[in-house]
Amino acid sequence: MQPIYLDYAATTPAAPEVAAAMAECLTLDGNFANPASRSHLYGWQAEEAVEQARGQLAALLNADAREIVWTSGATESNNLALKGICRPGDHLLVPSIEHKAVLDPAQALAEQGVNLELVQPDTYGQIDPARVASMMRPETRLVSVMLVNNELGTINPIAEIARFCRERGCLLHVDAAQAVGKIAVDVKALDVDLLSVSAHKLYGPKGIGALYVRRSADVQLEAQIHGGGHERGMRSGTLPTHQCVGFGVAAELAGAELETEARRIAELRDALWQGIGTLPGVRLNGHPSARVAGHLNVAFDGIDGEMLLLSLRQLAVSSGSACTSASMSPSYVLKAIGLSDAQALSSIRFSVGRYTSVQDIDRAIAHIRDVVGKLQVKAG
Ligand SMILES: Cc1ncc(COP(=O)(O)O)c(C=O)c1O
Repeated sequence: MQPIYLDYAATTPAAPEVAAAMAECLTLDGNFANPASRSHLYGWQAEEAVEQARGQLAALLNADAREIVWTSGATESNNLALKGICRPGDHLLVPSIEHKAVLDPAQALAEQGVNLELVQPDTYGQIDPARVASMMRPETRLVSVMLVNNELGTINPIAEIARFCRERGCLLHVDAAQAVGKIAVDVKALDVDLLSVSAHKLYGPKGIGALYVRRSADVQLEAQIHGGGHERGMRSGTLPTHQCVGFGVAAELAGAELETEARRIAELRDALWQGIGTLPGVRLNGHPSARVAGHLNVAFDGIDGEMLLLSLRQLAVSSGSACTSASMSPSYVLKAIGLSDAQALSSIRFSVGRYTSVQDIDRAIAHIRDVVGKLQVKAG
């Protein structure tokens, strides 16, 4: 029997509607042309499809279509946002529990003379707006805070952080890779300047993302990829029509089903927690209520994390550790919210999604209870 997929936070399968729309943009009888080809019908049709997709994504974010820049994924969007804005001497504020796709470009900027300061989260993995405000300086150019933490699912109070940024005259970038498609993300209500999205987290294809860039004189983004001047000079490269179209369809589907899907997924996630939360030594990592529907990050105290992951063979899940060549190292996110190395190593992230069934959850609960029971006997 195939393992039950409970790793939707890592990636989602493309929705069948997405795959079907993409398949129509590949071959000679489909919409295959270069969207930048201005001299023939094929090019115009491809451009129309790309612009329709741009509109679909913009609608999901309550943005203007002209504010959407296509990229290869949230990693590139984050790089473009941070490197496109910050210059040597600027002050940059970033929480210590951001995804590496923010932390690594921030570190690269620090090596080039940007003054990087890390903001510590609270024990739920939330970023306190007052703490961010207290760290702002006159030369603070950019604050970059994720909307939803990828490990914990904790939701950050972005609109409040944005208010401080406006008051102090600095820009706000938000990595929303784990939020879009799971909760309503309205760039105007949040009042952000830049926002990163990834298609493969919302049942779109891998290899495409977008950066929302607010149309405003103070958001001057310097391109990081040059050549051809695509995307109004902000990101060059031939647009992949099939990827854009797939992203657009995924965005429209996500918007149409947002609330009902989140409710259904939250019920499944809660059923999973009820089924395993009563086991001895089990506790929830992250915020109990301010979190997205699909995430459930759990520490299994007193159990060896590596053994646990190896034993949960009927499940596809993520652990609270990163595999380096020699050993398992505990997650820096879990460590930052106060877990010990052992607790972080014994943590598992379950993430539920669109295609998870009640039967999947029942099977997962029985399997986890069985495995944890056996490992606890061994440890005892
Ligand atoms: C919060 C967050 N940011 C960025 C990324 C990277 O996104 P992509 O795979 O589109 O480059 C991920 C994916 O794991 C993520 O969870």
